[in-house]
Amino acid sequence: MSTQTTDPLDVERIRQDFPILQRQFDGTDLVYLDNAATTQTPEPVVDCIVDYYHGYNANVHRGIHTLSQEASIAYEDAHDRVAEFIGASGGREEVVFTKNTTESMNLVAYAWGLNELGPGDEVVTTEMEHHASLVTWQQVAKRTGADIKFIPIDESGQLDMAAAKELITDDTKMLSVVHVSNTLGTVNPVSELADIAHDHGALAFVDGAQAVPTRPVDVEAIDADFYAFSGHKMCGPTGVGVLYGKRHILDEMEPYLYGGGMIKKVTFEESKWNDLPWKFEPGTPNISQGIALEAAIDYLDDIGMERVQAHEEMLAEYAYDRLSEHDDIEIYGPTPEQGRGGLVSFNIDSVHAHDLSSIVNDFGVAIRAGDHCTQPLHDKLGVAASARASFYIYNTREEIDALVEAVDEARQLFA
Ligand SMILES: Cc1ncc(COP(=O)(O)O)c(C=O)c1O
Repeated sequence: MSTQTTDPLDVERIRQDFPILQRQFDGTDLVYLDNAATTQTPEPVVDCIVDYYHGYNANVHRGIHTLSQEASIAYEDAHDRVAEFIGASGGREEVVFTKNTTESMNLVAYAWGLNELGPGDEVVTTEMEHHASLVTWQQVAKRTGADIKFIPIDESGQLDMAAAKELITDDTKMLSVVHVSNTLGTVNPVSELADIAHDHGALAFVDGAQAVPTRPVDVEAIDADFYAFSGHKMCGPTGVGVLYGKRHILDEMEPYLYGGGMIKKVTFEESKWNDLPWKFEPGTPNISQGIALEAAIDYLDDIGMERVQAHEEMLAEYAYDRLSEHDDIEIYGPTPEQGRGGLVSFNIDSVHAHDLSSIVNDFGVAIRAGDHCTQPLHDKLGVAASARASFYIYNTREEIDALVEAVDEARQLFA
């Protein structure tokens, strides 16, 4: 059960669970600050995968034999554990395992959007969406004749809520909003937005890829109709993501992919779909990854998500302040006082983000450079790319100092 405290994390203790953090490059310690892309995997999660392959590797929902039963139970239990973690009282029936957030998004866009949207309908989203949602809605809009509207951001990188209230109307069928921006760090008022959408009879989809890993999330308190996230951004393995959906909505939706496992009865003429969530999980699913996602949740829950959030915010504030000491650095998104997630995207006047990333890499510091799958947002910010440092439970202030020193080196090189 989660520890309801914001006591500081014992980072040194946590780091021992991540052998990769001991890596050195030519005697320089690895400083891993690319956690918004993918987090590292702790030993208990790796052990869980090894245990599966050593002990009970078998296909699920197909065999009567003991291995298949053990694998099936563990895989099904993992769904329940995810449901508990995100406050989905409907249990496993409201939790579909996908490949990642992107696939969860596509599942909703195709299975719900293609059937429910048409000319005159609107999808309202935001200027800070990840391509996972933006590109997907674009395609579904093209195919259905629906329109997409974008809630603008203000100067500080926060949503213009007055505009949101204007844009969400009775024509809106879906509000699709990112919970925590992977570029700006903005934490969006998703519950308030979901309320506005519901007042107009629209559904609310929340992209929680950067939120579930970094803070307590309760999908029912938010009143999200759909909520998506990825295992690999929260100490879990790659290859497993989650789509939460309210049971009555998932029940009414047609499947997205077809095949074995998602059916109850098949004749030469027609097929009947399986119960939730299996209706949306055709073929052999991501068994070991799904089971290991439960281990990742146990790991984070042992630490306590309130403490994870406090640690993230502490590091974000420290990085923001340290980088702000330099006049030639522009940081995007809200100030720490306005509230921000555990990442900082920035540009330095004289150095292109890609060069910066390459130079700090020479000092063992791993950051991301590019558009972070938010090209339209970068267009709006007037830059092609930015550098992004993103933090997790095993990062320290000293590592942020190492980043700032490496940035100084880059500045001198390009002076
Ligand atoms: C906000 C946000 N949404 C969606 C995604 C897509 O996640 P995935 O690549 O795991 O599908 C990401 C990944 O960076 C993200 O940050």
